[in-house]
Amino acid sequence: MPATNVATVRTPSKRTILMCRPEFFTVVYRINPWMDPQLPTDTALAVRQWEALYATYLDLGFDVHLIDPIDGLPDMVYAANGGFVLDNIAYGASFTYPERQPEGPAYMDWFRENGFDVKVPDNINEGEGDFLLVGDVILAGTGFRSASNSHQELAELYGRDVITLELVNPSFYHLDTAIAVLDPQPGYVGPDGSGPNIAYLPSAFNEQGLTVLRERFPNAILVTEEDAAVLGLNSFGDGYNMVIASRATDYERQLRERGYNPIGVDLSELLLGGGGVKCCTLELRR
Ligand code: ARG
Repeated sequence: MPATNVATVRTPSKRTILMCRPEFFTVVYRINPWMDPQLPTDTALAVRQWEALYATYLDLGFDVHLIDPIDGLPDMVYAANGGFVLDNIAYGASFTYPERQPEGPAYMDWFRENGFDVKVPDNINEGEGDFLLVGDVILAGTGFRSASNSHQELAELYGRDVITLELVNPSFYHLDTAIAVLDPQPGYVGPDGSGPNIAYLPSAFNEQGLTVLRERFPNAILVTEEDAAVLGLNSFGDGYNMVIASRATDYERQLRERGYNPIGVDLSELLLGGGGVKCCTLELRR
């Protein structure tokens, strides 16, 4: 077993992503426990905070594509839900709640216009909100949003193993609020020969899920309830740099200990919609 407190040399790899400026962000409906339409939102502040995230990604050398926001779709900023893209195939989203359903076709149009093969989904799914590629396998969440039959569809479409994980806490309703992928590089092999690692919140899963996670990721970072409560896990990186919520201080410490370079950003306004760093980020894999 490797000493996890010894900093490891980590190599970043360039990421290609899609984002959506929150020009029409507000909270006018409630589809997760974070949202309260009674609370005021500040769209200009949301845009400024989002711009800081965007600038952070550009500084890291990421290739950042933008999709035009649409008036009346306030959650469109959470681009991670717009689909799942792997092997140049974009598996479209089919949203659970009617308020977000028009986002599915809007994102599929963007994928088509930008040269991806689009698979119109047969089943309810919210894209990378619930599907995370870790090495060769796709971890797939269900319980609140994506239906488990979408996991089957995903497995057939990509010919990869899809591991179903049931989410049990409504505050962590998407898989990307409960798990962060730390090593996104294709073919990544760790210093001790291990595969790509993750960070997760144990209490977001049932016993069955925990058994799978413990077995597959024995060296995973386990985050605290406090860090999860600021959507700290909802983070995105390149295998070395990890962009996280600046308030997730213990997660930050743990990342540093493992040789990652955490970079804190403040997305407090977008947290009012129930989303953070990763929610604003959809990975495009050609
Ligand atoms: N208000 C949005 C919803 O509830 C937030 C989505 C957050 N996105 C994510 N990838 N977790 O659908």
